[in-house]
Amino acid sequence: MTRKRLAILISGRGSNMVSLLEACRTDGFPADPVLVVSNRPEAEGLSRAAALGAPTRAVDHRAFAGRTAFEAELNRMLDSSSTELIALAGFMRVLTASFVKRWEGRLINIHPSLLPAFPGLDTHERALAAGVAVHGCSVHHVVPEVDAGAVIGRASVLVHADDNAETLAARVLRAEHLLYPRCLAAVASGERLSLNEIVAASGDPVFLSAPA
Ligand code: GAR
Repeated sequence: MTRKRLAILISGRGSNMVSLLEACRTDGFPADPVLVVSNRPEAEGLSRAAALGAPTRAVDHRAFAGRTAFEAELNRMLDSSSTELIALAGFMRVLTASFVKRWEGRLINIHPSLLPAFPGLDTHERALAAGVAVHGCSVHHVVPEVDAGAVIGRASVLVHADDNAETLAARVLRAEHLLYPRCLAAVASGERLSLNEIVAASGDPVFLSAPA
């Protein structure tokens, strides 16, 4: 089996990145991390990636005149690592249509809501305000319109009556760590994800599913 050369893009603490890097260390996993890039040099995730043996780079978006110049440098780094597949993991920069089209089908993201519900920011606050009983996260292909690409997999959790945005975010994050490696493996191996499974994570059930 050939392993896909994987780049992970982060902006912050990198807990999803850690879940992907750890999965990549398991036998037979179809992706090999060749690069972790942060657009914020101070991101905590960079040292976590280095501790797990992944090559790291920072490309500070503030040092560039605009998105196009920033993405040109990003593409240069990705190409110099012969990247074949990109996983966005808490990468908080919107990418231009031209970048997204260049990587079409090879660029995936995790988003903290059950898409198509709650695209964009502040998803946990908005889910609570809407009074939903079930919330979660989605892994999807990236398209130029933000959070609108085809969903690869979802993980659902129950909303508790006493939840606030922090407690709900923590429950969803545990679900993210279960979901993202499964979706990455499917995309890297070119297999359609078949997922319909309940996992108990810290006592809270997480329902992992893939669209039919
Ligand atoms: C995660 O909850 C991820 O879903 C979210 O940011 C967090 C990053 O945490 N991503 C987005 O909101 C993308 N629009 P992490 O750095 O610990 O993985």
